[in-house]
Amino acid sequence: MSLLKRSLVLAVLMLAPTTLAQPSGELVIYSGRSEPLIVPVIRLFEQQTGIKVTLQSGTATALANLILQEQPNPRADVFIANDAGTLEFLKLKDALQPYLSEQIRKIPEHFRARDGSWLGVSGRSRVIMYNTKLLKPEELPKSVFELTAPTWKDKIAMATTRNESVIAWVTALRLVKGDEFTKDYLLKLKANGVVTLNGHTDVRKAVGRGEFPLGLVNHYYYHLELRDGSPVGVIYPDQGPTDIGVFVNAAGAAIVKNAKHLREAQRFLDFLASPEAQKLFAELNFEYPLLPGVPVAPGVRPLETLKLMPVRLDELGKELEKTLKLLDEVGLG
Ligand SMILES: [Fe+2]
Repeated sequence: MSLLKRSLVLAVLMLAPTTLAQPSGELVIYSGRSEPLIVPVIRLFEQQTGIKVTLQSGTATALANLILQEQPNPRADVFIANDAGTLEFLKLKDALQPYLSEQIRKIPEHFRARDGSWLGVSGRSRVIMYNTKLLKPEELPKSVFELTAPTWKDKIAMATTRNESVIAWVTALRLVKGDEFTKDYLLKLKANGVVTLNGHTDVRKAVGRGEFPLGLVNHYYYHLELRDGSPVGVIYPDQGPTDIGVFVNAAGAAIVKNAKHLREAQRFLDFLASPEAQKLFAELNFEYPLLPGVPVAPGVRPLETLKLMPVRLDELGKELEKTLKLLDEVGLG
């Protein structure tokens, strides 16, 4: 090769990254999370990678069913859910594509599927929030099982039992206390006049306005209501030495089986487990980052200080249908 030719080849090689069109990837995400909580994370991913994301939002349950319908020819590459049970449910339907990278292995095993089918990205605990103008500290319940007492008749709000966080909590109760106990407990809550509202935002606002002294919510709803200036406090229930602990669920993500943009989907999951994305989740919604070393938002009680219910999140999915049947029988609304 002549010197001229050689230097030409070299020049072309050096220019290649800028002169040749880079295939800018695409990624289709179905997300069961509220858009303000996920869009900033997606935008940062697009900025960092040049990958163009198409986002379809809805309820996690509806999108999980859509993924099952589209299974032979999937449109979604990634599924984001507000609950690990929904992710595990799809895994059991063989609708997910496992992925376990070095970055993903840094997330504690408690919060992801052992085989890499899904990844927990942010944690949320089931707490009781209360109105500080209606209740004094010494009056507060310490356990969710106290809520069936006459003291709390008609004083508790919770989200509908169609909500994924509520369903997962009931599954966890079944796994720890058994079916019979759980059904009896929920029937007693119903008899005690527990009111089910459309969603957790309604619950936190109702408690904030003083319509109910107590509300069963995920911990970040307490923080959101407090930020809105309402007189609210939080109880982390069942923390005593013989108590069952508080239930901690994870919002998470998974790659859809036969995803058309597999490499982009894998990059997105690695990104969700990265310190930058974990920090965003903590700041946007007061959730627990699941990557060790990333701090919680100011005012949030760190996960390590809580006694957790002994339930692995990958146990939830296979129990989903049984829980739905039990909730149907109880008829809490
Ligand atoms: Fe939520």
